[in-house]
Amino acid sequence: MITEIKTINERSIAEAVKILRSGGVIGMPTETVYGLAAIGTDSRAVEKIYEVKGRPSDNPLIAHVHRDYDIEKLVFVEQDYIPRLMNEYMPGPLTLVMRSRGIICKEAVCGGDTLALRIPSHEGCQALLRAADAPIVAPSANISKHTSPVTARHVYDDLNGKIPLILDGGKCSGGIESTVLDVTEKVPRILRAGLITREMIEKVAGGCEIAEHKDGDKVKSPGVKYRHYRPRCRTALFKEDEIEEAKLLYDKETASGNRAYIMCRTPLANYFEGKNLLLLGTGGEEIASNLYERLLQGEKEADIIIAIDMPREDGVYLGITNRLRKSCG
Ligand code: TXA
Ligand code: MG
Repeated sequence: MITEIKTINERSIAEAVKILRSGGVIGMPTETVYGLAAIGTDSRAVEKIYEVKGRPSDNPLIAHVHRDYDIEKLVFVEQDYIPRLMNEYMPGPLTLVMRSRGIICKEAVCGGDTLALRIPSHEGCQALLRAADAPIVAPSANISKHTSPVTARHVYDDLNGKIPLILDGGKCSGGIESTVLDVTEKVPRILRAGLITREMIEKVAGGCEIAEHKDGDKVKSPGVKYRHYRPRCRTALFKEDEIEEAKLLYDKETASGNRAYIMCRTPLANYFEGKNLLLLGTGGEEIASNLYERLLQGEKEADIIIAIDMPREDGVYLGITNRLRKSCG
């Protein structure tokens, strides 16, 4: 199969809709990461997503709808804080897990009774969702466990030959996947941290918990139990107070002829003068938007990425450290 990359516009969207309606799977942009899309009511098409990604069949998918879609067609909106959250943060990088009405096929929810629902803010994606006139399920458009793609080219690098079309909507502005929030109970609970932070949710919903994932727990969001986001090169992770150790490893690797890169936030650059660097930027949003791109650049150029962890875990940093530790730890 030949994989084409086409700029997202009216014509390419019409072509995408044709493929989707005939049971195909395509790459689509969102504001977080690129998705691997199929019509959510088409069991055969959804099975293709799992095949193409090599995704474990116990890890459910997110359903994406446009901003005017009546979500009560798909889920039961049971908590009074849900409309407030939607008002404030949707469209945007927030996914709500609610009780499903069973319209989305069972393959997409792995037989479960809940559905994860998201309204992407990416304008091209909105146009696609409107044109398709159906909910589209999509995981990140990478081979399972690999780093998530934030450009059409990244999708191509992973899925070339496996899908017919990738809609190119530019580099994703968000850079890490949406916050997944369980809203089936009185207090919402973050299953996967992201750009919509605990603090932002608390402000609107009055409270917010963070799910803890310990070994042996019954897993509520199956995706979080897997090692994830891994670049295809060796990695190491150091804390910010272990800069000397990171330098020692860099020098040792370089001395044995390996290409080593330090990945860190930009303010630390001066500690690593003369070394190969993958700089992440300064503020939380900037670091999130650059993280996967630097990992994917790093795996092409480096034998080992030596990453320096973030000094904090509040706000957006919770999502960043979660990805950084799973990708490099
Ligand atoms: O930003 C995003 O969310 C991107 C873009 C493409 O929308 N999508 C994405 O999908 O990251 P994926 O499949 O890579 O991650 C979905 C996460 C997984 O951790 C999965 O376990 C969780 O959402 N999830 C999906 N349905 C769920 C459900 N019914 N209950 C609990 N967790 C669910
Ligand atoms: Mg993913």
